Amino acid sequence: MFVCLGNICRSPLAEAVLAQRIAEMGFSAEIRVESCGTAAYHIGESPDPRTIAVAEKYNVPINHHAQQLKSSDFVTSDYLIVMDDSNADNAVKIKPKDAIALVYKLRDFDTEDEGSDVADPWFGDTDGFDECYHTVNRCSSEFLHFLVKKHNLVSA
Ligand code: 4NP
Repeated sequence: MFVCLGNICRSPLAEAVLAQRIAEMGFSAEIRVESCGTAAYHIGESPDPRTIAVAEKYNVPINHHAQQLKSSDFVTSDYLIVMDDSNADNAVKIKPKDAIALVYKLRDFDTEDEGSDVADPWFGDTDGFDECYHTVNRCSSEFLHFLVKKHNLVSA
């Protein structure tokens, strides 16, 4: 479960990029990928038009309706992958006692500036969305390698 603030920019893009990579590598039966936001501002909305535009630019299918992070997501997801420290702070506020999800920042899996935030492109211009795509693309590949190794996944 990818987590950002509004679930219309970073996390739906990360979901779309990772879903495409999972399908390409033959792990669709083993790995479920979703996304949500900690805020309720955009529930039910499609991704921001700039998110859709950058996904189309890089030939990544994207089709999502924004949803808000729920306490139960900590139980039904193995991993909550947040975009920045503020997402982590917000998420932890609704963490239930029986949580099983491990919480990481997406850029914990980055090969550049490991551990830093995925900058929120919402207030910026389209360059920010391009940068966001490159960041989530790099990190999603590394995260998928991590999952395959850790869980001994074998592709179909
Ligand atoms: P996201 O970006 O968390 O990457 O989806 C944002 C989207 C909307 C808002 C903030 C960030 N907002 O304030 O509505």
